[in-house]
Amino acid sequence: MQSPMPLVVILATGGTIAGTAAASTDTTGYRAGALGADALIAAVPALADHLLESESVAAIDSKDMDAATWQRLAARVAHHVARPEVAGVVITHGTDTLEETAYFLQRVLAPAKPVVLTAAMRPASALSPDGPANLLDAVTVAECAEARGVSVVFAGAAWAALGLRKVHTLQTSAFAGSDCGPIARLEGGTLRRFRAWPGGEALGLARIAAPAQSWPQVEIVLNHAGADGRLVDAAVASGVAGLVVAGTGHGSTSARLDAALERARAASVRVTRASRCAFGPVLARDARDGEAAGELSAVQARVELQLQLLGTR
Ligand code: SIN
Repeated sequence: MQSPMPLVVILATGGTIAGTAAASTDTTGYRAGALGADALIAAVPALADHLLESESVAAIDSKDMDAATWQRLAARVAHHVARPEVAGVVITHGTDTLEETAYFLQRVLAPAKPVVLTAAMRPASALSPDGPANLLDAVTVAECAEARGVSVVFAGAAWAALGLRKVHTLQTSAFAGSDCGPIARLEGGTLRRFRAWPGGEALGLARIAAPAQSWPQVEIVLNHAGADGRLVDAAVASGVAGLVVAGTGHGSTSARLDAALERARAASVRVTRASRCAFGPVLARDARDGEAAGELSAVQARVELQLQLLGTR
């Protein structure tokens, strides 16, 4: 007997993959999130014989991603993953905050089935859009019986969320991992796997159940030549619960920024030390250092700190 076709649910959130411009030659001046999931699927003839369902969760440019949308998205992903007939979920998203959403979903849901985020650098109306091939590859991973956890499929590779970064403003190979390569490559519809799919324990939907407007505020500050810590003092005065400092090199901060961070800690503000470098971890050296971001980029460390703070309420 033939095994049944795997069912994949496609959740659309917007982004350039669903963007349209007035001219096919325009790859920067377009409206993100203009097309729904059905239009994205229809643009990929090879998806015609796949078993797909689709749903729109949002239609935004991902620069505007926020906690309320994450709550909605996580709830819909959890709903579909729990359906026995669903093999996996694909999320179409903008590239700009993709690494944050992917990390958020992995920490909250750590799904036992594949949940695959994908995106595009060129709008759907471009002369040669990259979205259709990325969507087809994402569906391939979502249908894969051995895949699990949240991954990002982009430009022929599947990446774990941890440490993933958008590294280019325009090129179609816009993502790179920190010190690890991709989980797998997709070549002509075939998956060549190099490392394990993401695992770990889920924090659970209860962790993110508080109204989005009440989530603890966590901001990112940067060390740079002349950094004097005044933004840290202003953030503390405005009531932030946490700060991520994107330090220089291995997370270092100027003497004046360091002093301001010390004042923040004394005011019970949690501080995570990350780096403004494109790649490489920030390791904990001693207790005085505060919390180190490890492999996480500064923006992912912000998500992690917010999730931890939600767990201390
Ligand atoms: C967005 O992040 O929604 C716009 C940019 C992109 O998808 O590449």
